[in-house]
Amino acid sequence: MAVLMGGPSKEREVSLSSGRECAAALRGEGFEVVELDAGPDLCARLSEIQPDVVFNALHGRWGEDGCVQGMLEWMGLPYTHSGVLASALAMDKQRSKEAFRTAGLPVVDSVIVSKADVAAAHVMAPPYVVKPNNEGSSVGIYIVHESANAPPRLSADMPDQVMVEQYVAGRELTTTVMGDRALTVTEILTEGWYDYDAKYKPGGSRHVVPAEIPSDIFDLCMDYALRAHRALGCRGVSRTDFRWDEARGAEGLFLLETNTQPGMTPTSLVPEQAGKLGIGFGELCAWMVRDASC
Ligand code: DAL
Ligand code: MG
Repeated sequence: MAVLMGGPSKEREVSLSSGRECAAALRGEGFEVVELDAGPDLCARLSEIQPDVVFNALHGRWGEDGCVQGMLEWMGLPYTHSGVLASALAMDKQRSKEAFRTAGLPVVDSVIVSKADVAAAHVMAPPYVVKPNNEGSSVGIYIVHESANAPPRLSADMPDQVMVEQYVAGRELTTTVMGDRALTVTEILTEGWYDYDAKYKPGGSRHVVPAEIPSDIFDLCMDYALRAHRALGCRGVSRTDFRWDEARGAEGLFLLETNTQPGMTPTSLVPEQAGKLGIGFGELCAWMVRDASC
């Protein structure tokens, strides 16, 4: 089997970490594994190797947005995780919200505007969040606090169009879906907010699994994650992230996004949730392989 990792996205380093972990685990499960750093020669390399299955451990643009999935469909190679449409939809935060709304799921109000509009004046009343519409791992996220007088200065490498989203105060929760089953709910505790460093530095965040939250909120997360996975047409494993404003009870639970290529690093949430249910890392990867198709 070929494990795809790395690639040119801003989440390259995360993907290399996910890919190495998965490759090692799959070898432990008895699979013959070739590790491929996804570059422009990817198609040629895969044609040479002709793997039985492609294990996709890419994150971000090209690897998580339907591009590589389209190439693998074209080549007739079975691959893990979601297909072309679900990947493309999930990667586009604004369009996936439309699908979630249609499915009756609670999402946070947001608009897509130009970088120039963000710089000119507050696009909405603070607090709000500015983020690229199609990146992961909290790359390029700006939180504009209630007290902010001026709009944020965005870095030059932000895309021309960005998402401006109402900020929801509260607790950070996440749920993995594996096939037709939601696994559990994790609460993520951080000093500041759950940014790139908090996500990937050991000790950057603390995870409470299962989350110590009221059972109705726990059940809603499980239900919403499964419905979100289905609304986008996801396959295999996905992870849906939530914010919960405790003061507002069940009305305060909002779905932020669904990740079709969730992290598989040593500090990642999906393997940890699976582990809590007695599904080891190797077993999880082997399940993904059995679930692969094209
Ligand atoms: N985008 C990262 C890899 C995640 O969702 O875990
Ligand atoms: Mg994400």
